[in-house]
Amino acid sequence: MHSKPTLDELFDQRRIYPDIDARTRLDRLIGVDDQKARLSKILGLLVHPAGLELWAKRHHPGAATLLDSVLRRPPLVILSGDVGSGKTELAETIGDAVARQEKIDITLFPLSLATRGKGQVGEMTQLLTTAFDYALAEATKLQGRGKSTGGVILLVDEADALTQSRESAQMHHEDRAGVNAFIRGIDRLAQTKVPAAVIMCTNRLNALDPAVRRRAADILTFNRPDSAQRRYVLEHQLRPLGLSSVQIEGLVEATGAKDGQEVGFTYSDITQRLIPSIVLDAYPDRSIESKRALEIARPMQPTPAFQDHG
Ligand SMILES: Nc1ncnc2c1ncn2[C@@H]1O[C@H](COP(=O)(O)OP(=O)(O)O)[C@@H](O)[C@H]1O
Ligand SMILES: [Mg+2]
Repeated sequence: MHSKPTLDELFDQRRIYPDIDARTRLDRLIGVDDQKARLSKILGLLVHPAGLELWAKRHHPGAATLLDSVLRRPPLVILSGDVGSGKTELAETIGDAVARQEKIDITLFPLSLATRGKGQVGEMTQLLTTAFDYALAEATKLQGRGKSTGGVILLVDEADALTQSRESAQMHHEDRAGVNAFIRGIDRLAQTKVPAAVIMCTNRLNALDPAVRRRAADILTFNRPDSAQRRYVLEHQLRPLGLSSVQIEGLVEATGAKDGQEVGFTYSDITQRLIPSIVLDAYPDRSIESKRALEIARPMQPTPAFQDHG
């Protein structure tokens, strides 16, 4: 056996909300209002179950069984969808909305499976088990009657390593053990009813183990931006630089599906590839011009659509 990973080895930087930086990033996300609302409601209830009881007393007295079925859902929300569509960004910033809404501190424990758990056999299992141990221990300290004094979010990002179905014949023994550790962790949090929730991000919902899927209180889907959403991002970034609506419209088109392609740019294609290229092209001698911007955008290829086969 390997030694148990320490808190610092296990998690990327822990974050505590409310946090003004998270709030700014959350506000910048486009086209995810519905996901935002649903996620903050679910997380809010986990840290403040009495809120639902108050609501029921007011609107549906005698609805105890109804409440029970809502409150007993496993504390897991799955964010699924194409790369660069805002899953990580939302998961890393929603804690701020919940903290403000419930007026308590929320702590995020971010665990990325992409960069970890690729080493020795047993590592993935050990990582997940330890991560759930920490989340459970932290959340237990915050437990209160009706309303907790704080809340914990465990973020399992880039969880594709976990998403191969247990039923798949090729699935490696070790992966299966990882899935089992994940399920055990979710079930432990659910049973102890501590103020903790798990957000899992994956590009491959269809390949996700049915036992994991079944446990999700909600599955939120993220998509590439349509033309109106691309326009919004581009306007926001390029209008202040002096580009006109007509010029921006050219970029909206150039970032859409072209030449018989199925998909257009992702949000991150626009914010992390296109815009920086436009800026660096002009820097340090010229100012940004729409003609050059278009010449840069046209040949640029969107990130290929993620092949999500089960
Ligand atoms: N819905 C969105 N609105 C605005 N920008 C976005 C959106 N989604 C992604 N982005 C941009 O793309 C970057 C990468 O997004 P990220 O959340 O990491 O994607 P993923 O879905 O792969 O986790 C963000 O930092 C942001 O700049
Ligand atoms: Mg991500």
